[in-house]
Amino acid sequence: MIPDELIERIREEADIVSIIGEYVKLKRVGNSQRGPCPFHHGKDPNFSVTSHGYNCFVCHESGSVFTFVQKHLGMDFVESVKFVGAKVGIEVPDVSRRAEERDPREPYWEVNATAADLFRTQLWDTPAGQAAREYLESRGISREDADRFGIGYAPRDQLVVRDSLRALGFDDARQLEAGLQVVSEGRPDPRFRFRDRLMFPIYDAPGHVAGFGGRILGEGQPKYLNSPESEVFSKRKLLYGLNWAKQAIRKADRLIVVEGYFDAIRLMLAGITEVVAPMGTALTEQQAALIQKYTKHVFLLYDSDQAGLKATFRSGDELLANGVSVRVISLPDGEDPDTYVAENGAEGFERAARESVDIFERKIQILERGGWFTDLSRKREALDKLLPTIRVTADGLTRDLYIARTSEVAGVSRDMLDRELKASPKQQRPPSQPPPPAGDFGPPPDEETGAPPVRQRDRRLNHSAIGVRAERELVRMLLHHRRYVEPAAERIGADTFADPIYRILFTELTAGDSDVPLDELAAGLDEESTEVLQELMNENGGLDRAEETVNGSINALLSRELSDRLREIDRLLPLADSDQKDTLIREKSRLTVEMKALGRPRWKSFNSSRS
Ligand code: UTP
Ligand code: MN
Repeated sequence: MIPDELIERIREEADIVSIIGEYVKLKRVGNSQRGPCPFHHGKDPNFSVTSHGYNCFVCHESGSVFTFVQKHLGMDFVESVKFVGAKVGIEVPDVSRRAEERDPREPYWEVNATAADLFRTQLWDTPAGQAAREYLESRGISREDADRFGIGYAPRDQLVVRDSLRALGFDDARQLEAGLQVVSEGRPDPRFRFRDRLMFPIYDAPGHVAGFGGRILGEGQPKYLNSPESEVFSKRKLLYGLNWAKQAIRKADRLIVVEGYFDAIRLMLAGITEVVAPMGTALTEQQAALIQKYTKHVFLLYDSDQAGLKATFRSGDELLANGVSVRVISLPDGEDPDTYVAENGAEGFERAARESVDIFERKIQILERGGWFTDLSRKREALDKLLPTIRVTADGLTRDLYIARTSEVAGVSRDMLDRELKASPKQQRPPSQPPPPAGDFGPPPDEETGAPPVRQRDRRLNHSAIGVRAERELVRMLLHHRRYVEPAAERIGADTFADPIYRILFTELTAGDSDVPLDELAAGLDEESTEVLQELMNENGGLDRAEETVNGSINALLSRELSDRLREIDRLLPLADSDQKDTLIREKSRLTVEMKALGRPRWKSFNSSRS
């Protein structure tokens, strides 16, 4: 950190006119100096410099002497203070760490950088690298290009790089810590992690080799294998390419975000240097916070498939939450940034960028094309997709525009939207069907095998404990006392069950005769349902109060269904026109009566009719 008073002293001493005058031809007009704006490359003297700072009347770039140096020369803040300080003869003490405080991550960076070197040698100077060289060529990357990005090759023979590293003094422990070797299950010895892969070193922003992404040559899974998470390598925090892009981002005051290594490289080779790629789909909160330090203008350029779209919107929300403006660049179907820019060059890219649309507008476009604003309940769902984005948008003006646009496209009043926005998002959806958050990708595939993760089936995730208990108790009682199955089936259907397993069991129970033996019943079940069936059969508590329990559970489930629908009606009402309102209100009062009939005393007999 540079002390504030030092920054102020330099600001006061600096002759902003002569510093900017080195880059812009300035002429005195009144009490300011005027010239052509270097930011929007104007020809007329709309760019004004006073002792307070600079300002362009056309593109509205403005700031201090430090901002000018940062933006025009691509420096970061500290560099700009040093730069201006040097001009006025004030020395800025070195703010970087003192030599004796070695960064604890240095040992990892060191072994990684050495490995990167060895991978490069393997790629270019060995017969083993032949296939990788051919692969690179097939993707249109020359040796010179590849060297710019430090691309290398990890040979199939896993001992080669391991032994070279050993010989250079990096023992197995250190290789393990850096994730170059891994211990896999069922094997006594560590193995070298990367085998027969094209290697992309992944640098952190200052330029240390934080880890690697290794691409398989050709088809196979996983396509990319990354370094494991460690002290230095965090997929969620790093952005591939930032080390090369950071100056360009400041200078261009924009950033292009693409999905993959090859996409980022292709853009950089085309001269669009302000580009980064998160490692795997959407931007995280940490990555968005990092980006926001460099620029407030981001263009998202993801593949045009479903996954790409999801990642786009999820990234968009993270960026909007950081006060960044977000535009979406769309490519023709079937193109990814790599192939598109390889064919159409920087010019083609800029053409696509000019046709970019604001992220919120893009969302509306998609909803409109899908007919989401036509009927009432879809309109409700459409709003549920738009409101979260509005809610996270940090910039007040942008947020306002989004509200106005939503009001227009959905035909609802701003007041109603304001009320909705204030309400907490949790209260707004019926508990039985919370949509997954936009862009939810679930857990990542296993890195070694590429297999989708074995996801613990969380059957209870979306439901109140009481609801699930009622389902469980009901099924348990029906299993033990089959005579209640038929009367139960008259009151509720299988779709009343939220839990898939209890739903299956109920369906089986109601499908056959009440004297079907248990093993026959179990015959058609999958493993998980059979297990639950066993579990329920082994529980004998409270069986003497069967009728009471059956009735009570059914009432609880019916009442859950009714209150879900009532809540849904409350959500639809503000959007409804007057005819729709009438219908909804009639339904509401009917349901309220039904609900009352179910109410206390809760334990009613089967014979008394409900409603
Ligand atoms: P893509 O599959 O779109 O990558 O995944 P790509 O760069 O277009 O791949 P090719 O080489 O051109 O076919 C986008 C990014 O997601 C991460 C990588 O960072 C990749 O660049 N990813 C993808 C993984 O980490 N693992 C994978 O198995 C796949
Ligand atoms: Mn690709």
